[in-house]
Amino acid sequence: MAVLWGGRFTKETDDKVFAFNESLSFDKRLYAVDIKGSKCHAKMLGKQGIITEEEAESIIKGLDSILADIENNTLEFDPKCEDIHSFIEANLTKRIGEPGKKLHTGRSRNDQVALDMRIYTKNEVIALSDLITSLLKVLLSKMKDNKDTYMPAFTHLQKAQPTNLAHYIGAYVEMFLRDRDRLKDIEERMDYSPLGAGALCGTTYPLDRDYTAELLGFKEATYNSMDSVSDRDYLIETLSACSIIMMHLSRFCEELIIWNSNEYRFIEMDDAFSTGSSIMPQKKNPDIAELVRGKTGRVYGALVSLLTTMKGLPLAYNKDMQEDKEVAFDALDTVKDSLTLFTGMIDTVSFNKEIMAKSAMKGFTNATDAADYLVRKGIPFRDAHGIIGILVLKCIEKDCSIEDLSLTELKEICDSFDEDVYDAISLKTCVERRLTKGAPGAIDESIKRYEDII
Ligand code: ARG
Repeated sequence: MAVLWGGRFTKETDDKVFAFNESLSFDKRLYAVDIKGSKCHAKMLGKQGIITEEEAESIIKGLDSILADIENNTLEFDPKCEDIHSFIEANLTKRIGEPGKKLHTGRSRNDQVALDMRIYTKNEVIALSDLITSLLKVLLSKMKDNKDTYMPAFTHLQKAQPTNLAHYIGAYVEMFLRDRDRLKDIEERMDYSPLGAGALCGTTYPLDRDYTAELLGFKEATYNSMDSVSDRDYLIETLSACSIIMMHLSRFCEELIIWNSNEYRFIEMDDAFSTGSSIMPQKKNPDIAELVRGKTGRVYGALVSLLTTMKGLPLAYNKDMQEDKEVAFDALDTVKDSLTLFTGMIDTVSFNKEIMAKSAMKGFTNATDAADYLVRKGIPFRDAHGIIGILVLKCIEKDCSIEDLSLTELKEICDSFDEDVYDAISLKTCVERRLTKGAPGAIDESIKRYEDII
């Protein structure tokens, strides 16, 4: 076993201890960010005269060759190394000799891993944000295509009022816009480099921390070395944002699963995004939507896991923190996959416009509008509400909709009804007359806004 602490120890690490302790099996995916951090550290050491410029150059060249070899699969991760940091350092020294041993001057694996995870997470946050933008673009184009696709909107999963599909999708656009904003906030808050914090109390070498921060694309270096090596807030925030993204995706998936059911038939999933049954030949199942909904639990789990890992930790670094990686990697992979798959699925779904409109006409979705009609004829809203209630009861008895009643039948219940009621409670009027800000009739305004900001 290639351990980094030979001097103080007289015994080899027990095999089981090594296996329990190691992180290379999962932190190997940090190789590129680890090399990036090390190159900047070496460059700074050279600039500050802590090592010679030649040594710095030799280290940087060595690190570049390691990166190239990992990427073209000619260098395998050595399972005898404890983690990605020790693997790369050992391999560097194997390649370039003495200067390799100087790379770790003024650095600890504590600030090294803090840096690696921060760069990795920052890149992931940007990638997530881009995936959300792709989804938003698809949703916006669906909105533009479905301004007059009428459908029922629900409360308590019961038909409430009619709307158009553009308005319905717009609700999710708002959610994903907030998700993207949240990621932007996190990116800004985490934009500080912990490199140079050392093990926990900085170092006596004249490091230029703001220089490495700048080389690494951070705003500046962090302000407290103990916090720098033990802060995982940015990761918790990221997992929290991921959980909210998954919650939004999961709600949308639930809608699609319901709309895809035999009872609703509002949508038809594309064959490429559905699966069949091994026994029931008629089946076409919305597995992708169900999986995204299901994987939401896994992402919440990562958030709760890391919060719990961190809650009792005294300052500064504790090995517990190594537990941040597997859950975070899994959650980030899951959210990226879910966003990608969901975007493909929603892009290819087809909407059964006629069925949706028919459904919107059933279930007295125009009852509020009928009451509003009477209000316009001078009847106080509370009385109008009662009158329409009686009307609905009558319709239930006759198994028909309000607009199916003749004017004589309507007048029997309230004399204020006139011929113009039919237009006032038509599906088109009900949707398009709702012109308040954010309502389905004002959908063009929302679309204009989305065109500007997506
Ligand atoms: N593998 C460790 C981690 O992920 C790296 C830091 C180890 N530092 C230490 N002092 N043992 O947290």
